[in-house]
Amino acid sequence: MVHIGVIGCGVISKIYFQNLTTVMKNVQVIACADLVEEKAKTAAETYGIPKVCSVDELLSDPDVDLVLNLTIPKAHYSICKAALLAGKSVHVEKPLSVTREEGAELVALAKEKGLFLGGAPDTFLGAGNQTCRKLIDDGWIGQPVAAAVNMIGHGHERWHPDPAFYYQVGGGPVFDMGPYYLTGLVNLLGPVKAVTAEAKTTFAQRTITSEPKFGTLIDVEIPTHVNGILRFDSGATASLTMSFDVWSATQPRFEVYGTEGSLQVPDPNIFGGEVLVRRHDQKEWTVVPYTHGYSDNSRGLGVADMARCIADGRPQGSNRCSGELAYHVLDVMHALHDAAAQGRRVTLESTVARPRPMSTMLLAGTVD
Ligand SMILES: NC(=O)c1ccc[n+]([C@@H]2O[C@H](COP(=O)([O-])OP(=O)(O)OC[C@H]3O[C@@H](n4cnc5c(N)ncnc54)[C@H](O)[C@@H]3O)[C@@H](O)[C@H]2O)c1
Repeated sequence: MVHIGVIGCGVISKIYFQNLTTVMKNVQVIACADLVEEKAKTAAETYGIPKVCSVDELLSDPDVDLVLNLTIPKAHYSICKAALLAGKSVHVEKPLSVTREEGAELVALAKEKGLFLGGAPDTFLGAGNQTCRKLIDDGWIGQPVAAAVNMIGHGHERWHPDPAFYYQVGGGPVFDMGPYYLTGLVNLLGPVKAVTAEAKTTFAQRTITSEPKFGTLIDVEIPTHVNGILRFDSGATASLTMSFDVWSATQPRFEVYGTEGSLQVPDPNIFGGEVLVRRHDQKEWTVVPYTHGYSDNSRGLGVADMARCIADGRPQGSNRCSGELAYHVLDVMHALHDAAAQGRRVTLESTVARPRPMSTMLLAGTVD
């Protein structure tokens, strides 16, 4: 059993606590901490976590094997670094860090210490995206030629209780939602080679209309509408739109086009969703039944995957949601912003192998 300490007990922590305490069989959450102690106390009471403590106490607790970092983007790097320096493996919510330099330092530090580093998303390990991976790998659409991904919406200030971070450096549609789409693309098509893009910030300020901060203005620090073109090592290309500026749209969310057919990939922000394929000789799209498990909201699956690696003594970096994968995605996100700001094609310096596919016949609550 791998012992987990959770740092950051906000909105997204609920589904992690839920899954890690009731679904995943190879982990035990033994401690939680938050800057706001009350939040950690509430989480501990709700999910039966035995220990509430400060961040420093959690990091120096010899019983904690793996730190789950669910703080806001600006705190990701410092908490991950402190965890690695304290000898703990660490899995962090997305993005891995704000800057490339911080991300690269975390990857190098984990390697040097022989510890695991991992990052969200883990949605690509779910039934929908793993079924798509199998369809592509088994040749159902032939050789992938191109993909289209579109995440188009109007931001988070109407529902999130504390949405300022979505408009600060480390937030925005590319850094907030890009990890799902870009990790999904890398899982299906392999690493990205080069990027071009255009970007804009349509609204200089946002007004919070959720409670408890209703009426508060947020200054927008980042691009909120980005159009990009990606070139993959494989030769495939993809068009991408990431927007917090659009009220409604009808663009496909995620499609992959191959030499022999096309694939509709479900929303990479969820574990399930409908998978549809249409080969060149088919008159209509066909719904494909899942080949894999985990179609419910299984956030924490990537943590359980890391825990399996730790328990089995597998090599550093062999977790599917690896630091290297999270870093490559961070590099692509920066490349999109850089390409737009500098008006040039940016060639990626990082690369990564596609993560191992999940097994098709897993018992609920287990990972292979
Ligand atoms: N809210 C969502 O739907 C959602 C979905 C997927 C991923 N995420 C990601 O999860 C992360 C957290 O998002 P959230 O919505 O839960 O935010 P949140 O603001 O609700 O929660 C973050 C928590 O971290 C705590 N915190 C911040 N800095 C800290 C520090 N240095 N030490 C200890 N605690 C600290 C805060 O007090 C807060 O309780 C973000 O990276 C976000 O991108 C959020």
